[in-house]
Amino acid sequence: MLALEGIEKRFGALAALTGIDLEVAAGEVLGIVGPNGSGKTTLLNTVTGVYAPSSGRILFQGTDITGWKGHRIARLGIARTFQNIRLFPSMTVFHNVWSAQHHLVAGGLLGLLRSLPTAGSTDTKKVEAALNQVGLLQDREVLARHLPLPARRRLEIARALVVDAKLVLLDEPSGGMTPAETADMAELIREIVAPGRTCVVIEHKMALIADACTRLCVLDFGRKIAEGSPGDVLADAAVREVYLGADDGPDA
Ligand SMILES: Nc1ncnc2c1ncn2[C@@H]1O[C@H](COP(=O)(O)OP(=O)(O)O)[C@@H](O)[C@H]1O
Ligand SMILES: [Mg+2]
Repeated sequence: MLALEGIEKRFGALAALTGIDLEVAAGEVLGIVGPNGSGKTTLLNTVTGVYAPSSGRILFQGTDITGWKGHRIARLGIARTFQNIRLFPSMTVFHNVWSAQHHLVAGGLLGLLRSLPTAGSTDTKKVEAALNQVGLLQDREVLARHLPLPARRRLEIARALVVDAKLVLLDEPSGGMTPAETADMAELIREIVAPGRTCVVIEHKMALIADACTRLCVLDFGRKIAEGSPGDVLADAAVREVYLGADDGPDA
């Protein structure tokens, strides 16, 4: 579904990504792991058009999207969440999801203002379905800034669901969460891929990786150093050396 071929991304003298070849198959949950600064977020940024890669190609469902602008890539069905959550803090939960839907129509924000939600309309129902899936329907009138962190992360995911994204990219979705909240997030990730969606998730927490990921890719200094099933990758001596550091294993 997604293929990266020889992706390189430089920031001046710094090679943030070097020679990344990666395929993501439909229906999988691919975990991207690696130390801080290893290029994980940069990888998502090149796929979503925040940056064009310095070299290499990106194919989504056979279409070469290398160098495309973000809004055009989004329209093909790729959605993401951010390591530092990006919502409209002064808008309600409902309107945060509503606005994601309307970024896709001509007119952008102006179009949104002209097309205020009508109870029972198809668009309203889609927002409600997305909110229901992430467990936020009862909070629909709450301002985003008043939500606790786990709910804000779920709200970002609802913004991806409402546009029917085929590929959802999550950047550290359990950051700052307790173990119980992390387990809920793993469950939500499994639920959102169930209807034929595909997910790439950047994650540190072994609990989430073990519960949600079907495959792992390990980055170190912008290079892919391992790839495979979570069991195999986490047993790999080189990975343990680079990523896990200590013999007593990772944080849960
Ligand atoms: N916009 C940017 N300008 C310059 N350097 C950047 C930029 N974005 C990321 N980097 C650098 O690229 C490297 C990889 O960063 P990043 O992808 O954020 O790592 P990770 O998400 O794995 O922690 C880091 O050294 C970081 O400082
Ligand atoms: Mg990052």
